[in-house]
Amino acid sequence: MMRKGGIGFFDSGVGGLSVLRACKDVLCGYPVYYYGDNANAPYGNRPIYEVRAYVREAFDFFARMDALAVVIACNTVTALLIDELRAAYAFPIVGVEPAVFPAAKVGKRLLVVATKATASSLRLKNLVNRVQITYPNVEIKVFGSEKLAELVEGGFDGAPSELSRYLPTENPECVVLGCTHYSFLSEKIGEYYGAKVFDGNEAVAKRLANVLSLRQESRQKKDFSSDYPPMGCLLRSLPFFVRTSKAKKTVFRLKKYGVCVKVKNATTLYFVGSGALKNIQFYKRMFGF
Ligand code: DGL
Repeated sequence: MMRKGGIGFFDSGVGGLSVLRACKDVLCGYPVYYYGDNANAPYGNRPIYEVRAYVREAFDFFARMDALAVVIACNTVTALLIDELRAAYAFPIVGVEPAVFPAAKVGKRLLVVATKATASSLRLKNLVNRVQITYPNVEIKVFGSEKLAELVEGGFDGAPSELSRYLPTENPECVVLGCTHYSFLSEKIGEYYGAKVFDGNEAVAKRLANVLSLRQESRQKKDFSSDYPPMGCLLRSLPFFVRTSKAKKTVFRLKKYGVCVKVKNATTLYFVGSGALKNIQFYKRMFGF
C-alpha cells in the first residue's frame, strides 16, 4: 500500500527530478510522490486552461494522499498557477523561482532562459522588475524557448555546440535557468556561453526544509503505517512504482495495484502520473540508485 502523509513533487515531466535530487537531504524519511505528466509535456507551449486541468488532477491526488507538503518542481506551473493552487489546497506549496537575484549579485549581463509560458508570465516580469530596481546596472534579457524542454524530455545528449539551434546569440556573464528541465543541460549551457549558470533548485530545498521543520514542530510525528488510502484512490493513482534501498541493495518493484515497502531510515519514492515509467528510468539513468 502507498503510504500517506508524504511529500509531493510535481512536474510536467523529467525536469522536476533535478529538484527532487536537490531536495534529497531534507526529505526527513517521509515518503515522496513524484508526479510527472510526461504524456502531456511540454506544458510551456500550452494554454493555461489546459495546464490547469492537468495540474488539478495531480493536486487532487496529493490531497487524497494527505500530502504534508507539495513542491511545484516546474517553473511554468509556478508562474501560472501557484497563487490559485495555494488558495485551493490546504497543504503548504513550495514553488520554484528563477535565480535572477543570485545571478544579479554575480554578473552584469544576465540571460534568463525559460519556457514560452514562463517567459511571458507576469510573475517573471515582476521578478525581473524587482531585480532591476535593486541592481539598476544589470542588463537582463529573457528568452522563451518552445523547444528546449522537449529536447530534454527526449534525452538530448549532444555536444554544447548543438545548442546553437535552440539558444539565442548572446554574450551573457550569467545564464539563469527558468525551467527545471534545463538543469539537465546546465553544464552544456555553461560551456556553450562560457557563462556561470544558476538554477533555483537549492533555494527550493531550503524552503522545503523550513516548511517541514515548521510542520514537525507544530504536530507530533504520526505513524503512517496503518494509514492506507481507500482502494478507489489507489486505482485512480495508478501506475506507480516503488524504489527503496535496503542496506546497500536496491529493491525496485512495479505492482499493478500498489505496494508499500517499509524500510527503516529510507525514503520511499513513488512514481505517479502519466510518465511514471519514463521518470523512474530517467531517474535511474541520471542519478543511479
Ligand atoms: N519543467 C517545467 C518548467 O520548469 C516544464 C517545462 C514544460 O513542460 O514546458 O517550466
